[in-house]
Formats: sequence, C-alpha cells, structure tokens
Amino acid sequence: MKIKIGVINSKGGCGKTTIAINLSVAISNQSIKTVLIDADPNQGALFWFKKRNKNNLSNYLKATSLNKLKKIENFECSIYDCPANMKDKKIKDIISQCNYLIIPIQASIFDQTATKLFLELIKKLKRIRKGKTDLVFVINRYKKRSQIFKKLDTFLLSYKIKPLCKFSDRAVYQLLSADGKSIFDVNHKSIYDLKNEWINLLDFLRAK
Ligand SMILES: Nc1ncnc2c1ncn2[C@@H]1O[C@H](COP(=O)(O)OP(=O)(O)OP(=O)(O)O)[C@@H](O)[C@H]1O
Ligand SMILES: [Mg+2]
Repeated sequence: MKIKIGVINSKGGCGKTTIAINLSVAISNQSIKTVLIDADPNQGALFWFKKRNKNNLSNYLKATSLNKLKKIENFECSIYDCPANMKDKKIKDIISQCNYLIIPIQASIFDQTATKLFLELIKKLKRIRKGKTDLVFVINRYKKRSQIFKKLDTFLLSYKIKPLCKFSDRAVYQLLSADGKSIFDVNHKSIYDLKNEWINLLDFLRAK
C-alpha cells in the first residue's frame, strides 16, 4: 500500500519539520522509496535535504517542494512537511490525500490553545469526520521533570487523545539537522534512548 503522511499543526515551531525529516530517514532506511515533500514556503526541509545530498546520505529518500511534486516518480511513502499557516487551500488538499496526520504537540498553554483551534478546524473536514485519515498525536520537546506536562496530560485527556510517542527535548536534534542528518543516521549509544522513543510510531506505520 502507498502511504501518505502529513506532519501538521497550525502551531508554529511545534516540531513539524524536525519530525518530518527524522521520520523520512527512519522510513527510507527500511529500503522504502520515500519522498519528503516540503509544503512550507520557507523550504526548511528542502534545505536540510540539499545538505544531506551533498554528503551522499540518502539512498531511498528524495525530497521536493510541493509545487514540483507532479514531476517526480512514484514513491511508496510520501511525507508532507506542512507549514503552520492552514489558510492555504493546498493544505486542505494535502489533508484530503493523507492516510495519516502526525500532529506534534508541545506542552505550553499557547501550544494547547493553538492545537485546540487546529483540531476544531480539521474536524470540519469530511475526510477527518469520516475517519478516512488517522490522527496520530505525538508530544514533542518532552521534559521528564517539567510540571507543565501534567497540564498537557489533562488537556489531552479532555480531548480523549492518547499520544503515541513522546520525543524528548534534546539539542542533538538541532545539531544533526544543521548537517543534513537525523538521529537515524547516527549509531551512538547517547542517542539510543531517543531512537527508542520513535518505536511506537514506526511500528504503527509499519503495520499499515
Ligand atoms: N525534540 C526536540 N528537541 C530539541 N529541539 C527541537 C525538538 N523538536 C524541534 N526542535 C527545535 O525547535 C525548533 C522548531 O522546530 P521545527 O522547525 O521542526 O518546528 P516547525 O513546527 O516545523 O516550525 P514551523 O511552524 O516554523 O514550520 C527548531 O529549532 C528545532 O530544531
Ligand atoms: Mg517547519
């Protein structure tokens, strides 16, 4: 089956690009022909991929901007890195195509408020109402000892949301992305715990 995944939330800076690029490497590392589609006019994911390509890091992974999408070959897995701005009609088109939407949420009250509005917005879309697109929630920039995550749990519970993963807040995500890399390019014991945090999501997608 061809799988199309949108990484999306109208809250800016919640981790969409970071999750999209790491996921694209994790999936393409399984010899699955994968395309990372940068739907954000800022083109951060594409910039990351160009760095990556210079270092010959990708075999099964390609990247393109959304407007060049028609020119590319068939892929088994497409991952859309969506912009925060949801007004664009193109974004609704993306949602209408995706089998899965990965929705990163951070803990702050601003993230909660924005995510609430985002959920209200997408629940109006037919495809979401009919359950044709699965919503997959992931907590991003998780900090074990921070009380704010208790408040986030309460928020999620009120929406009956069970997040699939918690991705820790670790500077290595920023360091690696600056070099066109992901945590799945590095084999070092300091990163094993971070990789483990992705297992639920990768298993969930693998089962589809
Ligand atoms: N788990 C993490 N640990 C540490 N830093 C992170 C993590 N996730 C994201 N970041 C950092 O947070 C910042 C915002 O992340 P990112 O650009 O992925 O968010 P975004 O949702 O794509 O933003 P935008 O809405 O502007 O497209 C970046 O500097 C990124 O490196
Ligand atoms: Mg982004």
